[in-house]
Amino acid sequence: PPDPLQQHFDDTIARDHRVEPRDWMPEGYRRTLVRQIAQHAHSEIIGMQPEGDWITRAPSLRRKAILFAKVQDEAGHGLYLYSAAETLGADRADLTRRLIEGRQKYSSIFNYPADTFADVGVIGWFVDGAAICNQVPLCRSSYGPYARAMVRVCKEESFHQRQGYELLLTMMRGTEGQRAMVQNAVDRWWWPSLMMFGPPDGDSPNSAQSTAWKIKRHSNDELRQRFVDMTVPQAERLGVTLPDPELRWNEERGSHDFGTPDWTELQRVISGDGPRNAERVSRRRAAHEEGTWVREAAAAHAAKQAERREE
Ligand code: 3HC
Repeated sequence: PPDPLQQHFDDTIARDHRVEPRDWMPEGYRRTLVRQIAQHAHSEIIGMQPEGDWITRAPSLRRKAILFAKVQDEAGHGLYLYSAAETLGADRADLTRRLIEGRQKYSSIFNYPADTFADVGVIGWFVDGAAICNQVPLCRSSYGPYARAMVRVCKEESFHQRQGYELLLTMMRGTEGQRAMVQNAVDRWWWPSLMMFGPPDGDSPNSAQSTAWKIKRHSNDELRQRFVDMTVPQAERLGVTLPDPELRWNEERGSHDFGTPDWTELQRVISGDGPRNAERVSRRRAAHEEGTWVREAAAAHAAKQAERREE
């Protein structure tokens, strides 16, 4: 006879109900969630670096304030997601160690250089746009804390995407040089943004199980297609071309055909050999080490507070 706990879990998933931290869950479900949520959190924290470098070099106070708010949001998203991972028994310090030692991943997209200020706009438009395509379905994932964290994150992500697109609209109304800077950034970020959605469905070892557990609600290719279909009209309105000669509307499919990303590049970047991997990880390590005194002071302060409460 089926184990009543497994049966209850299966019924919860089948009914599109939420699994909560104190519910029984299969060990594989827990492990998959820790893997995905931890790597999602790592992506948010590492993702602060490419744009963070532009805060001191933003061309106006308004742009500086917007960028500061966005980078701060990413930090908050990371902390939110580490808290969701902790509800599964993960230890935040251990997760940080795994990131620093290269034993856990973060999104490939953050291993590319942000060479010009137009990159800040394109990161908002493409990277946060792709993040929205990926994160909206996650608001319906079967694990309660993760789904609820995504609702809050998605609200802030739409501001990130809009501010990036608005920045580019401003630059496209500027000089010839600014328009060329935008097109150059679009050319460099388009394909890596498509790779953010993961390998093609036929080469996605986690998808089947994640879909069965309703952690993943749409396949990598479906979300990639959704992002392309959303972005093409925005590129037309902006007056930039997307660097894909095979990109065209397909009436029968009701969506755009497009070229094939270079999957060997994705694997290379994921395995640590992207343009900025070493720099991103070493800066994360340095920040962690330099922050030791802050963690120790906060822990000492909390202990003193606890002692006072017991007096
Ligand atoms: N970068 C790094 N690793 C990637 C990747 C990418 N773009 N795409 C896939 N991978 C890894 C997977 O993690 C997996 O490795 P693992 O088993 O060691 O974790 C392997 O490649 C095979 O990929 P699968 O498709 O089988 O893996 P998943 O089913 O986990 O799908 C995913 C990958 C779509 C990224 C999924 O994990 C996911 O939706 N994660 C949550 C969202 C997320 O992490 N987004 C990252 C973007 S950053 C962001 O949104 C922040 C915003 O502010 C910009």
